[in-house]
Amino acid sequence: MRRHHSTTPRTTRTIRATRITRTTRPTRPIRPIRPFRLSRLTRALGALLLVAATGALTMGAAPAEPRRAAIPLDQVIPAPVSVESGGTPYRITSGTHIRVDDTPEVRQVGTYLAEILRPSTGYRLPLTTQGDGGIRLRLAKGPYGAEGYRLDSGAKGVTITAQEPAGLFHGVQTLRQLLPAAVEKKSVQPGPWLVAGGTIQDRPRYAYRGAMLDVARHFFTVEQVKRYIDQLALYKINKLHLHLSDDQGWRIAIDSWPRLATYGGSTQVGGGPGGYYTKDEYREIVRYAASRHLEVVPEIDMPGHTNAALASYAELNCDGVAPPLYTGTKVGFSSLCVNKEITYDFVDDVIREVAALTPGRYLHIGGDEAHSTSPEDYAAFMDRVQPVVARYGKTVIGWHQLTGANPAKGALAQYWGLDSTSEAEKAQVARAARNGTRLILSPADRVYLDMKYTKDTPLGLAWAGHVEVQRSYDWNPGSYLPDVPESAVLGVEAPLWTETLSTSAHLETMAFPRLPGAAELGWSPAATHDWDTYKVRLAAQAPRWDALGIAYYRSPQVPWPAA
Ligand code: ACM
Repeated sequence: MRRHHSTTPRTTRTIRATRITRTTRPTRPIRPIRPFRLSRLTRALGALLLVAATGALTMGAAPAEPRRAAIPLDQVIPAPVSVESGGTPYRITSGTHIRVDDTPEVRQVGTYLAEILRPSTGYRLPLTTQGDGGIRLRLAKGPYGAEGYRLDSGAKGVTITAQEPAGLFHGVQTLRQLLPAAVEKKSVQPGPWLVAGGTIQDRPRYAYRGAMLDVARHFFTVEQVKRYIDQLALYKINKLHLHLSDDQGWRIAIDSWPRLATYGGSTQVGGGPGGYYTKDEYREIVRYAASRHLEVVPEIDMPGHTNAALASYAELNCDGVAPPLYTGTKVGFSSLCVNKEITYDFVDDVIREVAALTPGRYLHIGGDEAHSTSPEDYAAFMDRVQPVVARYGKTVIGWHQLTGANPAKGALAQYWGLDSTSEAEKAQVARAARNGTRLILSPADRVYLDMKYTKDTPLGLAWAGHVEVQRSYDWNPGSYLPDVPESAVLGVEAPLWTETLSTSAHLETMAFPRLPGAAELGWSPAATHDWDTYKVRLAAQAPRWDALGIAYYRSPQVPWPAA
């Protein structure tokens, strides 16, 4: 048998959840007023009175609204560091303001929140820098770090406090999950819009919480990528790794080598038309990701996984002959020509242009499955390429095969092995980690979101086995690899490879419900880790996905509410 399930022992949770009791007044039906047989003037007056009455009513009890308890503060994914429930819930009404610090960054978070709340509540929710009460977003010094926040909710309002705008943004995601799922809809929904009373204090376990999207095997448009970014933001993921080149397609315009995109990007798995991002389109993805506090990590996979480049430029091949474009799903058959000088001109140009487009810290150079490159050539290639990344101001990330060469100082290695990966390979990664190479953990039999859930999953691959939701969640990044110190782990990333995926619904069906689990592994303290309580929180997300139109797999391991 390929694997066994390991269960993480339950440790004491820092979360203290107390039951929330509803403190709003019970609802009472209202008789509709019919402007029947009235003069126009009386009708106008009646309408005015009705508007006034409705306004007054929304400030107090809300007739015609369903009875609804506030969502408990500890139902959020990722689980917060600490929760103290209690006190009166805050109720968002037509009179609620969103109060922000008077800075562009805080205003931007406020506007983002307003854009979520306005369509479904139907309230104006104006942004203001004055007054009191309502929803407040404020920056202040405190124990929040770069991404942490504190959320205080009570009768008068909800205040989110953070040291940085990213913390406010993550706090807004918490607030969003504390409101009924209907808040995600784009048309006016009945309230009440209650936020349970109490305090959440929260900050991430890991600085790197990533998701990778393979736009090479199948191309995904800017709009599709933005949709995925919005889904990642809901779970506080802060890195979008874009796999921009592979055997089947080159997806980013490079001015100095234009055929990479125009020819190398002209197809995809199965032979569809493919596509590529112009520089402006890529900039738009970067801008949109930044507006959701995600950093884009571009990957140009080298020296293998390069058929699209080799097909575009004959001179990059050792024999000077361009291979045909490739639309299959094999791996390991292509390699840049390590002994040709032009290869390094190519690499320099590509890295320079991609680095110039990318404000983020990282540039991923792939390095996986270079089965057509000898180990000596591989090491020689990486020795030349890593300094190029540094010269253009970026930090190298490579798949963990880089640890078999000479990782540059400060380089990160992304581990994608399995339980069954050889001890020698794990030891090689651990040695590099002890020597200072920090790790991003993406174990394929845990968080490769393209792995089938079961043998009956229609989409996805199964080379790393079947990965059901519990297996995907139930591991501890801090103690996952033997002999790797916890401090060597920079974070967790959930890759989504797209050999079999070509629509947003495909992506979502594979990502949901596993992606929130990967996000929780990256964010939440180990002490909160517990499958039995997690699966209940996960189930409670389903109405939110329904409201957002997110497709997902209804795993029998999760106690979903009735559909
Ligand atoms: C990989 O899955 N080849 C990184």
